Amino acid sequence: MSAILPHGGTLINRVVEGQEREALLKQAAELVSIPVNTWTISDLDLIGVGAFSPLTGFMNEQDYVSVVNNMRLASGEIWSIPITLAVTDDQAKSLSVGEKAALVGETDGVIYGIIDVESIYTADKRHEAVQVFKTDDMEHPGVVKLFDRPSTYVGGAIQVLNRPVPEKFQEFYFDPSDTRRLFAEKGWKTVVGFQTRNPVHRAHEYIQKAAMEIVDGLFLNPLVGETKSDDVPANVRMKSYLALLENYYPQDRVFLGVFPAAMRYAGPREAIFHALVRKNYGCTHFIVGRDHAGVGDYYGTYEAQDLLKSLPAEELGITPLYFEHSFFCTKCGNMASSKTCPHDKADHLTLSGTKVRALLRDGVCPPPEFSRPEVASILIEGMAEASKTYTI
Ligand code: ADX
Repeated sequence: MSAILPHGGTLINRVVEGQEREALLKQAAELVSIPVNTWTISDLDLIGVGAFSPLTGFMNEQDYVSVVNNMRLASGEIWSIPITLAVTDDQAKSLSVGEKAALVGETDGVIYGIIDVESIYTADKRHEAVQVFKTDDMEHPGVVKLFDRPSTYVGGAIQVLNRPVPEKFQEFYFDPSDTRRLFAEKGWKTVVGFQTRNPVHRAHEYIQKAAMEIVDGLFLNPLVGETKSDDVPANVRMKSYLALLENYYPQDRVFLGVFPAAMRYAGPREAIFHALVRKNYGCTHFIVGRDHAGVGDYYGTYEAQDLLKSLPAEELGITPLYFEHSFFCTKCGNMASSKTCPHDKADHLTLSGTKVRALLRDGVCPPPEFSRPEVASILIEGMAEASKTYTI
């Protein structure tokens, strides 16, 4: 087992199996049901397998208020993102505190779990938005998602009865108990986690490899849950990660496994959440570069780093590794950051996301100093496929 303790000290396991599961499934069929979408199913499953330890369920009012206002659970542990179950007013009317409800997939009718209803409460979503996202601007993708949901939340411990089945790349789904065992089997005492919702470009590769110089292994842990529509789809990204690892990484020092959570785009607060979750997966270190989990201009370049630095290291329990904005410097002839490069901005190769997307859409590879050709060609192919689907 990995030496690092999960957040809160115990790896939560709320996945029920065998006869108990059979019995609960029978019971669930008779319960009031709450329809759940893909996002909520992924939260449910991640709570169930302990990725969100110490959470044992969707947040009750006390935890919710405490997390929104103080970035801590009512018990005092650091936690930065509300993990909540929203229900319509009609659904709320059929629920009672102290009773159980079944969590049923809204499109497939699968009983994914059961919740012990501990608390039914109304969220002040504007307050939540400003606290968590630092804005209530409806242009912010996380804020839009928040306001799309009903304002009544149901809190309580859950049990998972069915797991969501990934459509593709099943072999890259690992639970925290799996990754902890696998890291230990590899003999890795120190493991750095890398969160990404993007293809791995040269800047990402540079900071990963800089970290790999000082730890035993890299856990490349791309987020593959819901992302905004103009992010590169997870299936395309997975192909690009595999091509990159095959060609440019030592196979025995890197481990690829997905993080099936939704992206919140909450910048600094999400960086804390990302770090705590990776601790639960068994990482000892976590990379935080520039504008981690950011979107648009809502957060300062190093705001996520500053927020993490403001927390007591022993309470965080995982060591963040901070990196400055990295780029290829034509004068240095290598990847660098302002910490290592003395040259002017004019000597640095920087391409905006918009520019890169335009190049790829035209079938043009960005310079190899920006993106490995193997990665770029997969992205070009992915974009062509996507536009074929969209233009019919
Ligand atoms: S994120 O939303 O998942 O943070 P992205 O996949 O782009 O977006 O970033 C993954 C990690 O790499 C984050 O820690 C981010 O801060 C870092 N990062 C991305 N680009 C750079 C860069 N050019 N220089 C330094 N760090 C970077």
